[in-house]
Amino acid sequence: MEIQNFYKLLAPRPVVLISTIDGNGNSDAAPYSFIMPVSQNPPLIGFSSVNTRKTLKNIRETKEFVVNIPTEEILPDLWKCAQYSGNERNDKISYANLTAEKSGKVNVPRIKECMAWIECRFFFEKEFNDRVLVVGEVVECEGKEGICPLHIGGNKFGISSRRLTV
Ligand SMILES: Cc1cc2nc3c(=O)[nH]c(=O)nc-3n(C[C@H](O)[C@H](O)[C@H](O)COP(=O)(O)O)c2cc1C
Repeated sequence: MEIQNFYKLLAPRPVVLISTIDGNGNSDAAPYSFIMPVSQNPPLIGFSSVNTRKTLKNIRETKEFVVNIPTEEILPDLWKCAQYSGNERNDKISYANLTAEKSGKVNVPRIKECMAWIECRFFFEKEFNDRVLVVGEVVECEGKEGICPLHIGGNKFGISSRRLTV
């Protein structure tokens, strides 16, 4: 196994949709599966982004993001959010037939069709070659019961047997 493919040993992973806005208020959403809780107190969550992503650019600009946990039903819509970068189109949420709705504490909208939402303010970043580790402080969270989809790799997804307990 090639050393750079070590991450494949950590599959399946949770998959989320990260929503952001740019300085003009245009929203964006992109799937991420390089994501993990970092600390409970303070409540911190981290994810790894390729440095060209609009998601990263938006977070650097407006210092907020929402981690939206998708349902199995919207996996095809989530997939659509990965087909373009927000650098190419600024209507990805509606392009993917998803609905932006008001969040509780941050200006970034959350995605209505998801089953859980983790609202974050930018906390820290560390660049590694072409990837950036972004850590956000959780300022609000809410979730409904449901089955969490998992990312196996590429376009392969699985379903967790555990229901999210909130
Ligand atoms: C299931 C799935 C998981 C992904 N995980 C990541 C990830 O962890 N980090 C990353 O940089 N890109 C990841 N991507 C790719 C981005 O979602 C994709 O390039 C997207 O178009 C970026 O959009 P943006 O430029 O608007 O941020 C993933 C794509 C899919 C389909």
